[in-house]
Amino acid sequence: MTDIDTDTSKIIDGRAVASKVEAEAAAAVLKLKEKGISPKLVTVLVGEDPASQMYVRMKHKACERVGILAENCIKPGDITEEELFSVIDGLNKDKTVSSILVQLPLPRHIREKAIMNAISPDKDPDGFHPFHMGSLMINEEGLVPCTPKGIIRLMDEYNVDIKGKNAVVVGRSNIVGKPMAAMLLNRSATVTVCHSLTKDLKSYTKEADILVAGTGVKHLIKEDMVKEGAVILDAGIATDSAGTYGDVDFENVIKKASLITPVPGGVGPMTIAILMTHVVKCAEIIANEK
Ligand code: GUN
Repeated sequence: MTDIDTDTSKIIDGRAVASKVEAEAAAAVLKLKEKGISPKLVTVLVGEDPASQMYVRMKHKACERVGILAENCIKPGDITEEELFSVIDGLNKDKTVSSILVQLPLPRHIREKAIMNAISPDKDPDGFHPFHMGSLMINEEGLVPCTPKGIIRLMDEYNVDIKGKNAVVVGRSNIVGKPMAAMLLNRSATVTVCHSLTKDLKSYTKEADILVAGTGVKHLIKEDMVKEGAVILDAGIATDSAGTYGDVDFENVIKKASLITPVPGGVGPMTIAILMTHVVKCAEIIANEK
């Protein structure tokens, strides 16, 4: 890379914005504690997947930073679906628990959707429950998936005007792509969703004023696929023995972008910071129900 290409003013600092969001969550936690309410997150970790273990550890560390109580409910990989339903049921009923997070993926013998749908929507900081996804579709954004919400917050912090822009979302997952498309549409972007079966991906990405990628395919988005001045948000993550990579070929794409998130240090820290604000929100919802 030449000096010209490392224009740091173009780089969106996800860690800095995440710190700001965590500070907001910490302030909200203090207010709740003054009212005698202690937000508490219980993570449910099934099996011994090292990546899942790492993500859960990161979530617990964030809870510690913002003053949220956190417990990890660890279950063996051969737990039955019935037993796992019973764990969720117990946590739904436990008045000391404000949020339940079942770390995905679950073992293949367990129906992931059925388990996630069993979590009370009021205790769902991931925002994955069909109630929340449905609300999002009618422009009532309550608890929504954390990664796309984090991306919207990054754009807000960097004064990106979304209204009327051509936004292209690459990836159609329930966690990132689909809710991202809905959030952009709710903010009056013209939204196109591309995916693994899209023909001539470049013909779409080249038209994007705002490009969000969330596929997990290393460096799928190359310099010749983006428009001059585009805002690029990379929610992809791929790892191999040599390192961690985003969906975007950062070193080259930055030459054309007006703003771009790096991997790591871009979207990733935002997901967890937003999760913290959602745990607070769940505690507030439950307190209001009492
Ligand atoms: N696995 C990968 N990402 C996520 C996430 O955002 N939430 C949960 N619960 N599991 C995940």
